[in-house]
Amino acid sequence: MSELPLAAQTAALPLAPQTTAATLQEKILQRRARVGVVGLGYVGLPLAVEFARAGFEVTGIDIRADKTQRVNLGDSYVGDVPSAILKPLVDAGKLRATPDFSAVRDLDTINICVPTPLRKTKDPDMSYIVSSCQEVAKYFHAGMLVILESTTYPGTTDELVLPMLAESGLQVGRDFFLCFSPERVDPGNPTYQTANIPKVVGGHTPACTEMGRLFYSQALQRVVPVSSTRVAEMVKLLENTYRMINIGLANEIALMCDRMGINVWEVIEAAATKPFGFMPFYPGPGLGGHCIPIDPFYLSWKTKQAGIEARFIELAGYINGQMPQFVVEKVQNALNQAGKPLMRSRVHVMGVAYKRDIDDLRESPALDVMLLLKRRGAVLSYTDPFVPSLKLEGLELNSQPQDAAASADCVVIVTDHSAFDYQQLVARAILIVDSRNALKAFQSDKIVRL
Ligand SMILES: NC(=O)c1ccc[n+]([C@@H]2O[C@H](COP(=O)([O-])OP(=O)(O)OC[C@H]3O[C@@H](n4cnc5c(N)ncnc54)[C@H](O)[C@@H]3O)[C@@H](O)[C@H]2O)c1
Repeated sequence: MSELPLAAQTAALPLAPQTTAATLQEKILQRRARVGVVGLGYVGLPLAVEFARAGFEVTGIDIRADKTQRVNLGDSYVGDVPSAILKPLVDAGKLRATPDFSAVRDLDTINICVPTPLRKTKDPDMSYIVSSCQEVAKYFHAGMLVILESTTYPGTTDELVLPMLAESGLQVGRDFFLCFSPERVDPGNPTYQTANIPKVVGGHTPACTEMGRLFYSQALQRVVPVSSTRVAEMVKLLENTYRMINIGLANEIALMCDRMGINVWEVIEAAATKPFGFMPFYPGPGLGGHCIPIDPFYLSWKTKQAGIEARFIELAGYINGQMPQFVVEKVQNALNQAGKPLMRSRVHVMGVAYKRDIDDLRESPALDVMLLLKRRGAVLSYTDPFVPSLKLEGLELNSQPQDAAASADCVVIVTDHSAFDYQQLVARAILIVDSRNALKAFQSDKIVRL
């Protein structure tokens, strides 16, 4: 444009670049923008609901027709989204869901919230991002804002997503806008949810960042713009790597304390009284969920290509990976001391979800603990009010009422759900291995702590 004569530049102004941006900005500000969310899981459904609550018309797209049907009935399958909130939005026509990507034709914005797991080789699995973007690209049109929210390695938005959208011939930053915004939801957290967790957003160009900022500001309390998609992608990986490594440190301290006969929980609690320079992290039976055990490997995979070994990540991954084994050894030793071999002993697991008060079993350390126990001949049962049944190497188990713990040779607390009656557990169980310090308030010879 700068090569045009001045008169032509001035004459071109009302029609050209800014027009697309101005039109979309106006639609966003007036809440007339038609919002799309691709992937209606733990991240996508709460986001869709927030924008519908803010007055936008929202379309959720998910390949799972069972999920889109339930959304259209106002029947939530995500713990943080009560049906009592979802249903009125659906009834008012503010939120609908479909498995059909042709809906993209009528949308102004799209947030992509599809899974980003690891392959068995610990390499990033980009297949969900690629397949959803390929579908979006079929119906992509000028004037759209596309934001990737799936956790991924730095460079994904620019190197993988942009080329698929640019095949349309449209120019990013002028004809359409592209951002990355890391998702930070913490399922089951009653204090911080989608609306009040600050939202970082970085665009491919400054115009993209500004569009992303404007968009999120309509529905979320605080938006933090950053200079690029890569910075935004790296923010998420720093946050989760920070957690993973500090949990690794807490686990290593727990292993040391165990050898030295020191109560690690008491140590951490006392250290946490320091009002500056210390933040407590806690040991446990191992990492779980699809974020903390996985995301740091997105970073180490990418940095390897840049010739840098992510040594902290590898080390913390190794220590965290030892914890299920450590818990099983605690069970075995406790049973030995009671004169019972682990082989054929009945071991009852309290809590199998990967963290307290949620129903998510993905990467749960309970599965590792149970598998190790099973392979050593233990007879397993479990209680988890959030997980009615599970499969484990050909074994199918159903959650038992908590009373079942009383007849086990040993109980192991893997996930400390708040619904458990710990008083009753301590009163009735024969032997308890507590990997979460859930029994902090109890003193008893039958309790073995991590
Ligand atoms: N759940 C969390 O606590 C959390 C927190 C922060 C970041 N994240 C990240 O957010 C992303 C989404 O995670 P999630 O927990 O919501 O996953 P999820 O599995 O709960 O939901 C993903 C949804 O995407 C759908 N989907 C898969 N492929 C699709 C496709 N090609 N087109 C349309 N829909 C498709 C699935 O059917 C599913 O409903 C991941 O990158 C994850 O790492 C998750």
